[in-house]
Amino acid sequence: MTQLPAAHSKADPYQIPTPTANSASKAMLLTVQQLQKDYQTRQGTFTAFTDINLQIHAGEVVCLLGASGCGKSSLLLTIAGLQSANQGEIFLQGDRLNVPHPQIGLVFQQAALLPWLTVWQNIAFGLQLKQMSQLSRSEVRSRISAAISSVHLQGFERAYPHQLSGGMAQRVALARSLARQPKLLLLDEPFSALDAITRLEMQKLLLAVIQQHHSTVLLVTHDIDEALLLGDRVLLMSRHPGRIHREWIVSQPKPRFQHAHLLTELRLEIFTELSTLISPDL
Ligand SMILES: Nc1ncnc2c1ncn2[C@@H]1O[C@H](COP(=O)(O)OP(=O)(O)O)[C@@H](O)[C@H]1O
Ligand SMILES: [Mg+2]
Repeated sequence: MTQLPAAHSKADPYQIPTPTANSASKAMLLTVQQLQKDYQTRQGTFTAFTDINLQIHAGEVVCLLGASGCGKSSLLLTIAGLQSANQGEIFLQGDRLNVPHPQIGLVFQQAALLPWLTVWQNIAFGLQLKQMSQLSRSEVRSRISAAISSVHLQGFERAYPHQLSGGMAQRVALARSLARQPKLLLLDEPFSALDAITRLEMQKLLLAVIQQHHSTVLLVTHDIDEALLLGDRVLLMSRHPGRIHREWIVSQPKPRFQHAHLLTELRLEIFTELSTLISPDL
């Protein structure tokens, strides 16, 4: 990350002079340089985000927070290679990315399961995409069954999507990504369509999955608490166009669910910053 906003220069226990200082010993997994995405609309060219510089180390969980419309999903889709950038570059372990990479997993707000396939078959479907290297039948079986147990869905292998609750469907979506053994998991508000209690369950499950698989995660959320419970770093995006406005490191050990009170000060600080960003005069 090269473009640090002025806010970083303030003395603040949660902020770090360089975003990667605490993880300098870990391998760099994702590097995003000067990324910009423009959309062509009837009104002309619309820049969804610009000037995005980002580095994520292996094993890090980075949460991207920002108001609706600030370009979070656009950024994730671009990193996933599902749409091209207009400027800038993306590297995964040093390799330039411009097409979907088989080892980047993506989970959206909606599980997007195929309704005519069972849980097992939906996960298997994710392994049959043409970018995936050919796997033996036994490797496919063992990956699917490991993914199913990671998300605690043993016993539901033969269920169809209409037989699942929203939380279970999201667990299948997560398992579908995990079975591909992704180097990087991109999660776009994966729990925001769920009720508060299911969301908490899913956050706990995701944390366990991350710890089990040593996953590297870029999680988009508009929920400050979610970012603070799961993230090693929290990035706040501004909008029109989207930029990374500010960054915090969250150093409290995980799990933090029983220690949320320790995050109160940081939560308030992020809330204040977000609130100033969306309506500076109120
Ligand atoms: N395919 C598209 N064509 C035109 N504008 C788009 C397209 N996708 C997103 N946008 C616009 O880009 C901005 C950022 O959208 P998005 O990335 O979905 O934001 P977020 O995920 O932060 O809510 C919004 O103003 C949205 O209307
Ligand atoms: Mg979005």
